[in-house]
Amino acid sequence: MKAKSFLPVLMSVLLLAGPGVMMAEDLKAIPLMQFQSDTGRPLMHVLKERKSSRAFSPRKLPRRVLSNLLWAANGINRPASGGRTAPSATNQQEIDIYVATADGLYLFDAKRRQLWPVLKQDIRAMTGQQAYIQDAPVNLIFVADYTRMTGTPAEDRDLYAAADTGFISQNIYLYCASEGLSTVVRGGIDRAALANIMKLRPEQRIILAQSVGYPKK
Ligand SMILES: Cc1cc2nc3c(=O)[nH]c(=O)nc-3n(C[C@H](O)[C@H](O)[C@H](O)COP(=O)(O)O)c2cc1C
Repeated sequence: MKAKSFLPVLMSVLLLAGPGVMMAEDLKAIPLMQFQSDTGRPLMHVLKERKSSRAFSPRKLPRRVLSNLLWAANGINRPASGGRTAPSATNQQEIDIYVATADGLYLFDAKRRQLWPVLKQDIRAMTGQQAYIQDAPVNLIFVADYTRMTGTPAEDRDLYAAADTGFISQNIYLYCASEGLSTVVRGGIDRAALANIMKLRPEQRIILAQSVGYPKK
């Protein structure tokens, strides 16, 4: 089997054995598109527009927009080193982004530019405790994997995981301001219930969630 065709199989095995999440049988992986670096509004305009919005149209995000959004969030911007658009403590890159949509739950793989299926279930409403959340076509869940934080003293891990999530969240805010999308980062989450449905391992911790979609007209 060629290395390329072996990768999805390997990912399936890793997802089953590693992160402790079930591979969703009928949910297909979504290949993401190459990010577009020639779009977007000037930074100062984007900063002027950045805000939290809590009214979403149910309109789905096109794959192109979802691809750009996730690249902006924490994609690879220096392929030679694997560097990301968001900084992370000791470059441990411990924050995973899970993507909850009406079709199911996916895991963003920045290296392979894929969304891997995790759960064939619409868990959007469970990613928070406010009514508007289920209207948003995309709810992102930021999960720290503490097994990647061995370079950080145990007492600093929560702090650094929270800080690293903040950078990712702000990247999303800026992309949304540039694209005219609505977004809000959220800490009001029943973490135990959500971790349970996501079948997270004990070393994985939900930090924050963030809703994204088109503004409600
Ligand atoms: C760590 C954190 C947790 C937040 N949790 C929630 C939340 O659970 N629900 C919500 O509607 N907004 C939440 N927000 C959004 C804030 O309410 C919002 O950023 C604040 O009111 C300032 O508004 P602005 O973002 O438009 O400047 C949170 C923001 C941060 C930084």
